Amino acid sequence: IAALNENIKDHLRAQESNGSEVKVPRKQPFIIGKSFPSFFFLRLRVTGGTASGKTTVCDIIITQLHDQRVILVNQDSFYITFDEDTPQQVHKYNFDHPDAFNTELLLSCMEKLKLGEAVEIPNYDFKKHKMLPSRKVNPSDVIILEGILVLHEPRVRDLMNMKIFVDTDSDLRLARRIQRDTVQRGRDIQSVLNQYAEFVKPSFEEFILPSKKYADIVIPRGGDNDVAIDLIVQHIRTKLCQHDLCKIYPNICVIHSTLQI
Ligand code: ADP
Ligand code: C5P
Repeated sequence: IAALNENIKDHLRAQESNGSEVKVPRKQPFIIGKSFPSFFFLRLRVTGGTASGKTTVCDIIITQLHDQRVILVNQDSFYITFDEDTPQQVHKYNFDHPDAFNTELLLSCMEKLKLGEAVEIPNYDFKKHKMLPSRKVNPSDVIILEGILVLHEPRVRDLMNMKIFVDTDSDLRLARRIQRDTVQRGRDIQSVLNQYAEFVKPSFEEFILPSKKYADIVIPRGGDNDVAIDLIVQHIRTKLCQHDLCKIYPNICVIHSTLQI
């Protein structure tokens, strides 16, 4: 940075001594591809079928980055909840259909984060099918949105820079889902299998799998794919470094991009 700084200063001094007008716009936002406000410059979407390892992949990325400027938002937080739920109602409900989510609220939260405003995002209770008290999410440089349908809805899809699809074998996903839903989500095996056959699998085939074509990166084997996760982490680190450089030296970055050095 210091060397680059000196080069730029030399360049400016040379321009001044030549008598040429020095035009350096000040306090420009950092630009990657498009003009994003500096606090919302990299947005990742991580999708894939149920129990494909989306959460696991996001957790590994966040742990490896070890950077406070990364936040995770779950699409589950935007499930529409029942006023009064009965077991019959729950068993007939398709939680894997796009209409199960309050997409308008998700879009409005993402828009606020984009504008630099903090938002309240609820947590979701899979046992009771209800919202838990919300948490405050501050705007951040890197926002990861994770969920089964984040690549399905065009307006949600268009919010992002990097689209990731976690591609794990269906049998393995079902086995993990049975294990998880019976242990962590308070379900019995028969209800997991019924829900899977009636709603989860058909919706995966109708909505989730077709959204794979929008992904920039497909990660086979989810959290076991160290190489893919490493590449993503490196990419985010590079972008964060460039971002830091431009925050500290806004003029350098403008000159840098103007001269295309
Ligand atoms: P998703 O967010 O896509 O639903 P999760 O990351 O929550 O998936 O994983 C679903 C279940 O499978 C969890 O219980 C998790 O511990 C388990 N799991 C995820 N990835 C692996 C893996 N690579 N090996 C073994 N178990 C895994
Ligand atoms: O973590 P995962 O991506 O698997 O979460 C999404 C899944 O949670 C969906 O496949 C949906 O069937 C399930 N779900 C559920 N009960 C709810 C809400 C979602 O079984 N109340």
